[in-house]
Amino acid sequence: MSSKKVSIIGAGRVGSTLAQILALKGVCDVVLWDRKEEHAKGIALDIKESAPVEKFDISITGTGNLRDLKNSDVVVLTAGVQRKAGQSRDDLLISNAEIIKPLCEGIARYAPDCKLIVLTNPLDGMVYMAKKVTKFQKNRVIGMAGILDAARFEEFIAMELGIGADDVFAVVLGSHGDFMVPLPRYSSVAGIPLVELLPKQKIDKIIKRTRNAGAEIIELESSSAFYAPAASLSLMVISILEDRRRIFPCSAYLDGEYGVHGIFMGVPVILGKRGIEKIIELKLNRKERDMVNKSAGMIKRSIKPLLYKV
Ligand code: LAC
Repeated sequence: MSSKKVSIIGAGRVGSTLAQILALKGVCDVVLWDRKEEHAKGIALDIKESAPVEKFDISITGTGNLRDLKNSDVVVLTAGVQRKAGQSRDDLLISNAEIIKPLCEGIARYAPDCKLIVLTNPLDGMVYMAKKVTKFQKNRVIGMAGILDAARFEEFIAMELGIGADDVFAVVLGSHGDFMVPLPRYSSVAGIPLVELLPKQKIDKIIKRTRNAGAEIIELESSSAFYAPAASLSLMVISILEDRRRIFPCSAYLDGEYGVHGIFMGVPVILGKRGIEKIIELKLNRKERDMVNKSAGMIKRSIKPLLYKV
């Protein structure tokens, strides 16, 4: 048993992998909710049965009842339909808005003080919807995308350079989609600026692959990525639970930061016990600013249909 509690909504591949990572790290009790209650219970029991082998000592339970969210420190929303090959994340807007709306109402009702992390796609739209429906303060609703996008960027840089990924650091801003904004100027390898290590042409190729990385997995696997998304979520959960105040790119509600108002978009934030403790504003050059503005404009247009849903 732990004094901290995390509830995961959706026991699909992302939700169940996240539950396993949190169990292995032993940082919190975990409740795994799914509309298919037996499925959630089965996954939870399977993970629990690995406790004697893995030597963790937390409680993990499956449920189909949102009441079991009560007293959650963090709730992670992963529920929703996945995109299929050829679909964009935005194609899921209406169907996933309809799925997450009642779930967000349940979260607000049963876990009114939690920090809410959203993964459901299209990410920047769904996290916006989650804030509108829960009416939580902006610091308590956070979207996961930037850690995943940056991790992919880092891994591709490491592959290109033939080095381990540990010492690669990359920054990605903007929307989780075709308009994401990887920032080579703020990316480095063991302190050496990336732009000094690789020619522009190679960096551009890596950026293209990063933007398309979610679709690349779907094409290979016929199903969305889940290991890297779940690992990325676990970093956010732990930074909040343990008040580590780590800096990650996350989808945050912007109130004028980066010249953007009233939408969620990927920016670097400090994550601590209150959720988003601070948004960090990087100094951007004109080209980078243009890309961020384009990304923000695209998010604004794409969430318009949601205004009728909340
Ligand atoms: C991806 C999904 C999580 O990028 O959007 O793999």
